[in-house]
Amino acid sequence: MIEALRERLEELRREVERQLNAAAGPADVEEIRVRTLGKKGALTAEAKAIGRLEPGARPKAGELVNEVKSALERAIAAREEELAGGELTRRLAEEALDVTLPGRRRGQGTRHPLSIVTDELLDVFRRMGFSVATGPEVETPWHNFEALNIPPGHPAREEMDTIYVAGMERLLRTHTSPVQIRVMESQGPPVRVVCPGRVFRSDTPDASHSPFFHQIEGLWVDEGISLGHLKWALIEFVHQYYGPDVDTRFRPSYFPFTEPSGELDMECLLCHGEGCRACKGSGWLELLGCGMVHPAVLEAVGYDSERYTGFAWGMGVERIAMLRYGVPDIRLFYENDTNFLHQFAAR
Ligand code: DAH
Repeated sequence: MIEALRERLEELRREVERQLNAAAGPADVEEIRVRTLGKKGALTAEAKAIGRLEPGARPKAGELVNEVKSALERAIAAREEELAGGELTRRLAEEALDVTLPGRRRGQGTRHPLSIVTDELLDVFRRMGFSVATGPEVETPWHNFEALNIPPGHPAREEMDTIYVAGMERLLRTHTSPVQIRVMESQGPPVRVVCPGRVFRSDTPDASHSPFFHQIEGLWVDEGISLGHLKWALIEFVHQYYGPDVDTRFRPSYFPFTEPSGELDMECLLCHGEGCRACKGSGWLELLGCGMVHPAVLEAVGYDSERYTGFAWGMGVERIAMLRYGVPDIRLFYENDTNFLHQFAAR
């Protein structure tokens, strides 16, 4: 009897070990465990059968069954751990991130054409020894007008189509010229600065007008600065930016803050002086306004106008960018149309 039980148990043990070896994953092992050690499992059945043996055989039978039971429990646990570890390794391998894959490209921004042109222009003047200064877009009437020799009631004030904010005490600067005043108020001569910035006028937008646009202002004040310096600096600028053979001409003009005042024209880039639509048949393009700083402006900031003289100029960035890139409508600069803007990538 005991011998028959011993054989059956040996047989069961070998069979379970064979199944464990064949198991492919932890789920298979669990099935084997239930089939063997579960409530209706094969070994559990043997344990229950002990009660039906004659009393003298029971202790030995119980010992044999327990021996096999703990051996199988160990074997099952070991195989389960083995397979779970294998599965972990497999999942780690399968689900690992491939860090060598190229990333997904984000649409990259490009520099705005107005920023490109502004920096190019500033670079030319930096090489001539100018430093860069900026000022606020919301200005006082003093900086935008009075200090620039434009008193209340002066016709230039009306022509500027000024946008006022907070009553009449503050306004959106109509030009970058107030930065001249701020620089001179904050330091004594000599002064050699270029001042880029946004300016505002209550204009209705069309192909050549916008209620805001950009200017670069220039100012050089020192002892002995003459019209000769003005001509040298501005013609040199045209030659450096547009090429050494580009023709220039000065025309007399009027600005309240300069005396004498002038405008600098350059040979039309499209027709080289022949006359075309871009230059309205004249062969010339207006580039900037300029002049010798009016003594009243120097006095307004406390400079001694007997001792110091200077010249100044102001130019529109959009106009220069439109000529340079052949942009037909100023509004294109402000519409955030990426098809337009991407054309200026990596220039
Ligand atoms: N501020 C003038 C404007 O907005 C441009 C200008 C002309 C500036 C002559 C100057 C200058 O400094 O000397 O039209």
